[in-house]
Amino acid sequence: MLPYERPPLSKSLLAGANTLEQALVLAPDWYDRHAVRLHLGRHAVYVDRSRTELVLDDGRSLHYDTLVLATGAKARRLRVPGADLSGVHYLRTATQSLELRQRLRPGKRLVVIGGGFIGLEVAATASTMGVQVCVVEAAAAPMARVVPPEVGRLFAELHRRHGVAVHTHAQVDAIRCEGTHLAVRLQDGRGLDADSVVVGIGVVANDALAVASGLPVDDGILADASGRTEDPRIYAIGDCARFLHPLLGRAVRLEAWQHANQHAEAAACSILGADEAGAHVPWAWSDQYDANLQVTGAPDQWDALVWRGVPSAMAATLFQWFEGHVVGAVSINRAKDARLAARLIARRTSVTPEQLADPAFYPC
Ligand code: NAI
Repeated sequence: MLPYERPPLSKSLLAGANTLEQALVLAPDWYDRHAVRLHLGRHAVYVDRSRTELVLDDGRSLHYDTLVLATGAKARRLRVPGADLSGVHYLRTATQSLELRQRLRPGKRLVVIGGGFIGLEVAATASTMGVQVCVVEAAAAPMARVVPPEVGRLFAELHRRHGVAVHTHAQVDAIRCEGTHLAVRLQDGRGLDADSVVVGIGVVANDALAVASGLPVDDGILADASGRTEDPRIYAIGDCARFLHPLLGRAVRLEAWQHANQHAEAAACSILGADEAGAHVPWAWSDQYDANLQVTGAPDQWDALVWRGVPSAMAATLFQWFEGHVVGAVSINRAKDARLAARLIARRTSVTPEQLADPAFYPC
């Protein structure tokens, strides 16, 4: 299968509004026209660094001057009895999205395990298609990896208004097949019936190739902001790489579409010896029903949370403020605030909570 974009997998492709062809990263003839040879359906199993060769699973070796590892991440597996039953789905590939789509029919029951980006986007898509959806989230509020609980709770309410049952502080104990349906048992003893189950409980970096090749890893392949690993001929970019982020001042492994693109550009500049663009403020988005969520920055601490707008109307931004500066922001249907937050973070502009709360405050 040709390289495709992942954002549609839980949205338009899953809903049947778009085809896989529309999700392709590049036109099918782009590769030939640019002398890029694709080896599809092949696994790279080993990097022979002394011979500068990449060994494939069919025994062939490819010589490299520079090697870029863009191996991404894989879905974390649910480890409970029954997790391997048919009818239990993951959503990481286009094939999985198209398979799940066949199961989403009006009136069917879907249990979603994990209320992160995958879980909530699938819940929104499926419930819009007339499916009865129930979300099981282990944390106190959904999307806890990327947004404060104040925002997660608003999205839980949004889903409930659309008829989705959202259970927080909840974990699955076991899944059983009972005739024509699946019985999902929670740790507190409650039971949920389902025709299908989707598991979206996070990802694990695909760093096995780097480990086998002796490159240092720590929940991701260790690299720098341009993707350079300790081996000057090898780069690691995107979801699989952990690097010291110049703006955040700490090592991160970012799981976001925009970061994967920018990390690739930074690596290309470095490989070509061109000037590298400056550091980018992390940014991610999600669309659920008519709510557009934009997450700017990736702070691990803040002194205060400052609202602007009307959270109950799903038209608000929550700024994360630390020692006189904005370090992050979560915008709901307020894209202009997300752009403001990115500027304030990049320039380390001094601001007060009162200024942030003022809907008219947009310094250039
Ligand atoms: P995630 O890390 O965003 O969310 C996983 C959720 O599952 C968390 O809320 C966590 O508390 C919960 N969880 C973990 N173990 C659990 C358990 N045993 N029972 C119940 N809940 C449990 O990961 P997710 O949603 O699986 O997404 C996978 C990847 O795809 C991520 O890298 C994500 O960023 C990416 N993605 C991004 C989207 C976007 O940017 N809009 C959309 C869809 C996916």
